Amino acid sequence: MRGPTPIPQQTKPPPIFPTENKDIRRTRNFAMQPPTIPHTIDGYQVDKEFNRCMFCHARTRTQETGAIPVSITHYQDRNGNMLADVSPRRYFCTQCHVAQAEAKPLIGNNFVDVEQLLQRRPGVLGSTK
Ligand code: HEC
Ligand code: HEC
Repeated sequence: MRGPTPIPQQTKPPPIFPTENKDIRRTRNFAMQPPTIPHTIDGYQVDKEFNRCMFCHARTRTQETGAIPVSITHYQDRNGNMLADVSPRRYFCTQCHVAQAEAKPLIGNNFVDVEQLLQRRPGVLGSTK
């Protein structure tokens, strides 16, 4: 990833890429994937005093903000009980949700979506062939 620069020499650091801010929800790669954040989050305060994310994403705020409300799993504690407010284990949003850089991937990968896998196997439920 450091290119042809010899090990003892320092590489030229790449520019800091701009954050994706297209307001288009990215396709999830699998059903339980935490969706990526399609907008910038620079300077958003998330600490014990205030949660800037919930200022828009809370159930009661979404009509005004146009944000997607956090799903029901965000209100469940680890024993599956439903809480009235977002669960402490889902409070720090960026543990799971991350903004995206407008950059080309440094290395390729050959991830195949399960939908494509199903289509490759005739006779399997959901197969189109
Ligand atoms: C000013 C309001 C606002 C704030 C603050 C905000 N969001 Fe959003 N968010 C939106 C809106 C509106 C969308 C819908 C797509 C779009 O317009 O960007 C969205 C989309 C998302 C999505 C995509 C959901 C999906 O199903 O694809 C995620 C994840 C997300 N936000 C997480 C966060 C996190 C984490 C924070 C805090 C660090 C945050 N947002 C702060 C308004 C907000
Ligand atoms: C422990 C990981 C985790 C944390 C922390 C977390 N989320 Fe999520 N989030 C997920 C996963 C996984 C999904 C997709 C499946 C689901 O809904 O549970 C999701 C889904 C979402 C969605 C899409 C909901 C929908 O119905 O499409 C939004 C919006 C979102 N999260 C926002 C937030 C915000 C805002 C916070 C902070 C208050 C947060 N999340 C904290 C894991 C997390």
